[in-house]
Amino acid sequence: MTENPSTDLLRILAIGDIVGRAGRRCLELLLPPLREKHRPDIVIINGENAAGGFGLTEKICRQLFQDYGADVITTGNHWQDKKEIYQFKKDYENLLLPSNMYNVQDSSSGYCQISVKGQNFVIISLTGRVFMKGENRCPFQAFDEIYEHFQSDRPYFIVDFHAEATSEKQAFAHYVTGRASLVFGTHTHCPTADERVLDQFTGYQTDLGMTGAYDSVIGMTYESALPAFLPPSPQKKKIRFEPAKKDLWLCGLLADIDTRSGAAVCVQRIRNELRPDA
Ligand SMILES: [Fe+2]
Ligand SMILES: [Fe+2]
Repeated sequence: MTENPSTDLLRILAIGDIVGRAGRRCLELLLPPLREKHRPDIVIINGENAAGGFGLTEKICRQLFQDYGADVITTGNHWQDKKEIYQFKKDYENLLLPSNMYNVQDSSSGYCQISVKGQNFVIISLTGRVFMKGENRCPFQAFDEIYEHFQSDRPYFIVDFHAEATSEKQAFAHYVTGRASLVFGTHTHCPTADERVLDQFTGYQTDLGMTGAYDSVIGMTYESALPAFLPPSPQKKKIRFEPAKKDLWLCGLLADIDTRSGAAVCVQRIRNELRPDA
């Protein structure tokens, strides 16, 4: 997939959870050459951990849209870790909250429409229920509702399915096969090697992996994360996770969508590493 897409194909670049400053540095240094090489028509970035590993500030949201050229920012269970998002969300309609999450009041804040080369796309942010906190609405039904809502426009659908369980992600992907052009998972911060096209229509990868420091425990330093897995200490000190800084990778997925049918024809996993001296 090193050639420019033809006029019959639209190329999507989806980038996994940006974790803290390390993740933003990956974008700064690795995204421009990636764009140059692959020339994506739509760039989707998951930003739920972009601010110190927890949530999203307006400054960083603007940076992702304006400086790094995100067309859509998706989120996940950490969407409200920085409370200022309640103020600035209304100014960024392509900043998506998980549509079916228990603490998202307006389900329409979980999807947006964009038009590229005359083709309408609906991008959807959903979250799973298995091993996830809170009473989230059923993501399968949530997809059906959004799909029906847009049926008269005949757009193509792309879903960021933010979930812990591999099984739930795979079940969801099969559920929407033939209806969604692309489904990718986020949240675990570990890339899976199962990218493929389901039933010659739906591009899929169970998890994109994170964009950030991989010398870590899902983006946090080993030293700060370890107490979360040990018996509580008598001192009962609050665990303070520290974003890690070493071994920077940008992880994501490229997908080519046939403009005439909406079918994904090719998907390619991306894992670009930053040289330690960069
Ligand atoms: Fe995440
Ligand atoms: Fe998450």
